[in-house]
Amino acid sequence: MEYKVLSNGVKMPQLGYGVYQVTKEECERCVLDALKAGYRLIDTAQSYFNEEEVGSAIKKSGVPREEIFLTTKVWIENYGYDECKASIEESMRKLQTDYLDLLLLHQPFADYYGAWRALEEYYEAGKIRAIGISNFYPDRMIDIATFARIKPMINQVEIHPYHQQEKSKKWHDKYGIQLEAWAPFGEGRGDMFTDPMLSEIGAKYGKTVAQVILRWHLQRGIVIIPKSVHYERMVENFNVFDFELSADDMEKIATLDKEQSAFFSHYDPNMVEWFGKMVEERRKQHDCTKEEKNW
Ligand SMILES: NC(=O)c1ccc[n+]([C@@H]2O[C@H](COP(=O)([O-])OP(=O)(O)OC[C@H]3O[C@@H](n4cnc5c(N)ncnc54)[C@H](OP(=O)(O)O)[C@@H]3O)[C@@H](O)[C@H]2O)c1
Repeated sequence: MEYKVLSNGVKMPQLGYGVYQVTKEECERCVLDALKAGYRLIDTAQSYFNEEEVGSAIKKSGVPREEIFLTTKVWIENYGYDECKASIEESMRKLQTDYLDLLLLHQPFADYYGAWRALEEYYEAGKIRAIGISNFYPDRMIDIATFARIKPMINQVEIHPYHQQEKSKKWHDKYGIQLEAWAPFGEGRGDMFTDPMLSEIGAKYGKTVAQVILRWHLQRGIVIIPKSVHYERMVENFNVFDFELSADDMEKIATLDKEQSAFFSHYDPNMVEWFGKMVEERRKQHDCTKEEKNW
């Protein structure tokens, strides 16, 4: 395993396992498999609705809690100081832990400054070892890095060979904020797993396209959290520390950059509206459940 040391001195594995779109039914088995395959960084989020399963897998695995670097993220409907604090407690309860290794603000919308103050408080109380942001483009990252009391240690954003974030990376380097890639394979969009150039490079090293992509991230200094529900792929994705891409191959991969998201832009007003509607829907559902259960 290779590690990254964050601006506050906390050491984290550079390769971990993400559980976005892993169903509640499969999640416990998947996290147990990932821990068996050797992963020690697990990335979940309140909005993935599988924190409980992650928590029970960690408990069942027998791997000591302190050997695991556990990340979760606060969803925007829990932003604001008080709501965020309550949601941190809820996440820790679901994850069966009394501390988190990393807590991120999931999106740069709504009252993220209020939420950030809650993260700062938990960080200073020693209940969260590192705090960060996610999906903050350089302008939002610089805003919070400049005006918040404690600067984020991590920003988790979309990064893969078709969206390399080279300009964003320079800004993050300047502010000493570690970049972590979500969708390190771009979820395979644009036929990335059969990309002719990546396949050709892989053949040279006796490695798969997935392994070439992950190795490329590692050599760029990015933290990665690939997801797979298949044990063989988890093992394949973990097996990336025994080869090195040449400078020439790194340069070739740099030419694949399309400099645009394979998903959506957080600058798109339609998307901001979509997030607003999603929160409204979830609040309605939550209130409904409360009434049904007579809380
Ligand atoms: N902060 C955010 O807003 C945000 C957004 C998205 C994701 N994330 C985090 O980042 C993690 C990874 O991103 P992601 O899950 O969206 O996408 P990803 O890791 O780029 O890609 C996952 C996809 O690739 C397939 N795959 C995995 N390994 C493979 C291999 N060796 N060969 C062929 N196919 C393979 C998986 O299929 P199978 O599962 O069928 O193997 C799945 O369809 C998430 O799980 C989550 O923790 C964060």
